[in-house]
Amino acid sequence: MIERTSYDSPQYDVFKTNVKKLTGLDLNSYKNQIHRRVHMLMQRWGIKEYEEYFKTIKEDDGKLREFLDYLTINVSEFFRNPNKWTELQQKIIPALIQDRGRKQLKIWSAGSATGEEPYSLAILSLEAGLSPQTPVQASDIDLGAIAIAKRGTYLKRQLMNVPGDLVAKYFTTSDKETYAIKPEVKNRVNFQRMNLIEDRFADDFDLILCRNVVIYFSAETKTVLYQKFLRALRPGGYLLVGSTEQIFDYRKIGFESAGAFLYRRPV
Ligand SMILES: C[S@@+](CC[C@H](N)C(=O)[O-])C[C@H]1O[C@@H](n2cnc3c(N)ncnc32)[C@H](O)[C@@H]1O
Repeated sequence: MIERTSYDSPQYDVFKTNVKKLTGLDLNSYKNQIHRRVHMLMQRWGIKEYEEYFKTIKEDDGKLREFLDYLTINVSEFFRNPNKWTELQQKIIPALIQDRGRKQLKIWSAGSATGEEPYSLAILSLEAGLSPQTPVQASDIDLGAIAIAKRGTYLKRQLMNVPGDLVAKYFTTSDKETYAIKPEVKNRVNFQRMNLIEDRFADDFDLILCRNVVIYFSAETKTVLYQKFLRALRPGGYLLVGSTEQIFDYRKIGFESAGAFLYRRPV
């Protein structure tokens, strides 16, 4: 019975192995909190055994989506934490352009969810006059989120942090409630599915954003991920993390601090 099944039971181990095969998501890399979330979903459907729950998500696309949604939480915003975006626009991007000696930067939104973050980066790229030859890379483990991102339509309330002039410049609306991102912004983003824990990264990035993605990752998984980001950056490149996700051992990993929630690969 589920009430007596702990997160290190053999049944949960089998469930984790099956989930990994089905979705590529390794629940071992997440905190035990994830186990509670799995239980909440099982309770919602009156399911008491892991085996039965696995069968359900395997056979029912809707339940699989719900499971992934609940575990990975796709919530995002345009220009989330606006102060950081002002810093990116006024300080970091100009410094990177100067460093590179050209208006072409390699930027990556890692954990791009439903597209708000990479499209915000694409808007900044357009505003900075960056070359369209290197589109913003955007990746997420969740294909459903990527599909929404590619559609590129948002409700008015989702644009609350977008300054009015940028809404007018980069979105179209027919009914003042739904806003579609313009093709010139869309074409500046390249979406792909990627599991940050398992997959190999490209390199030579100037700027990587990984925000509000690692909340459920274990401490060890976070460290390994940040080491991978360090190697993916060019010397002098920046990593911006979420505004609750300070990296305490950034020096040990090899970064230097470049401000709040901002880390730099030393030159
Ligand atoms: C809360 S959203 C963050 C969106 C955006 N970065 C932001 O800050 O607004 C977290 C995203 O991380 C993705 N994610 C979770 N685990 C992942 C993994 N192992 N690999 C890639 N993406 C992952 C989820 O699918 C989800 O879309």
